[in-house]
Amino acid sequence: MKIAIFGVGYVGLTSAACLINDGHSVIGVDVSESKVRMINEGKSPIFEPGLEELLTLGVQEGRLVAYQEIGDRLADCDIAIVCVGTPSAVDGSHNMGYIAEVSRQIAVASVSLPERARPLTVMYRSTMRPGSIDKLIAPIFRGFHGPTLSKVELVYNPEFLRESTALKDYYAPPKIVVGTIDGQPSATVDELYGNIQAPRFYVGYREAEITKFVDNSFHALKVAFANEIGRICGREGVSAKTVHQIFVSDTKLNISPYYLRPGGAFGGSCLPKDVRALTYLSNEVGAETFVLDAIMRSNDAHKRYLFEKATEGAAPGAKVLLNGLAFKANSDDLRESPYIDLARRLLQAGYDLKIWDPQLEPSALTGQNLGYSFAHLPEMTNLLLRTKEQLVEAGFDLIVDARGDAASLGLDGVPVAAINSLP
Ligand SMILES: NC(=O)c1ccc[n+]([C@@H]2O[C@H](COP(=O)([O-])OP(=O)(O)OC[C@H]3O[C@@H](n4cnc5c(N)ncnc54)[C@H](O)[C@@H]3O)[C@@H](O)[C@H]2O)c1
Repeated sequence: MKIAIFGVGYVGLTSAACLINDGHSVIGVDVSESKVRMINEGKSPIFEPGLEELLTLGVQEGRLVAYQEIGDRLADCDIAIVCVGTPSAVDGSHNMGYIAEVSRQIAVASVSLPERARPLTVMYRSTMRPGSIDKLIAPIFRGFHGPTLSKVELVYNPEFLRESTALKDYYAPPKIVVGTIDGQPSATVDELYGNIQAPRFYVGYREAEITKFVDNSFHALKVAFANEIGRICGREGVSAKTVHQIFVSDTKLNISPYYLRPGGAFGGSCLPKDVRALTYLSNEVGAETFVLDAIMRSNDAHKRYLFEKATEGAAPGAKVLLNGLAFKANSDDLRESPYIDLARRLLQAGYDLKIWDPQLEPSALTGQNLGYSFAHLPEMTNLLLRTKEQLVEAGFDLIVDARGDAASLGLDGVPVAAINSLP
């Protein structure tokens, strides 16, 4: 393949080197005169293990050449890969100036491309917010190409390399995510990555665009969390190293997909209580744990969000069934259940509420469970329906489904607001 790479920094040069290694020819385009000169001399403008050798090979074999402008060289290219920087703007958003500028250049350079079997694939690898292709890049292309983009195929493909192991990461990425206009595979991108084994996701532009934000924020969150735990341990004379070993050894609940699915708020008898107690301890020892301190407020915000999601399109007065009240299925533990909170909000907002939770017998509740539930939802006994006949007779306008099994209730035709797994 012949590939043009716009922006030959860390991402662009790594891609260039690996594509040369795979036998392709690469045109590098960069506004930096010094980078272009160095590349054409077979030297790498950055240090990355193994990079310079491949760039030198590319130049010696005539398969790598760099320019400051693309000119008419896109004519025989199969792909244009965009790797320009998206640095922070003063307000914290990404500065999209380089993306816009390079998109304009490619749009202009590709408008006069002759008819060909496959359109030119313009693949963006820079990190940019969801909506960037739809709202910024595609309109720039349409401005030059007209409303139908028949000569180009716009693709978003986030990059997951880590500097210092970038070449290895190129061949062994954690995943390949390809965002296209219809979420379908791109033949050109599949051909480009034909030799790479990794889980593949073909998705819409926005899901692909947000992937890197989510990944990087999670990595940052992990570092901040680990350091906050380290600070508390340090102040309490606990070995942070030992705590870390124990923590990461648990690949069932800790380092695992558990507790990472967007859906319900957390609750129950342990998580809220223990998070509060750890932030109390942290305050006491002056560990300044801003991430930990924010967890309860974040969960409260999520409970408000769930209420709003649940009642979208249902006016106060509507007959609502809440499917599930205990903090999880097959339990009658109501302590700090987010659904107690939801039930209270529904009542306060004027909905005609009933609740279905067959595991729950109010007269059998004891101890703190009894105290918490009646203190927070004194109407509970009258709200709970006991039989399937009562369910059918009630004539609900909406089911707010905390359990995810509303279909099994036999209330066909009643709209369901699923709040435990967000779409
Ligand atoms: N560095 C990483 O580890 C990494 C990993 C994944 C994703 N990313 C993302 O990839 C993108 C690029 O990152 P990077 O670290 O390679 O940046 P970089 O700053 O090293 O390189 C960007 C290059 O783009 C060039 N450029 C700017 N405007 C241009 C234009 N109009 N035409 C041609 N070239 C132009 C710059 O001169 C520079 O050489 C960013 O969005 C970044 O967030 C970076």
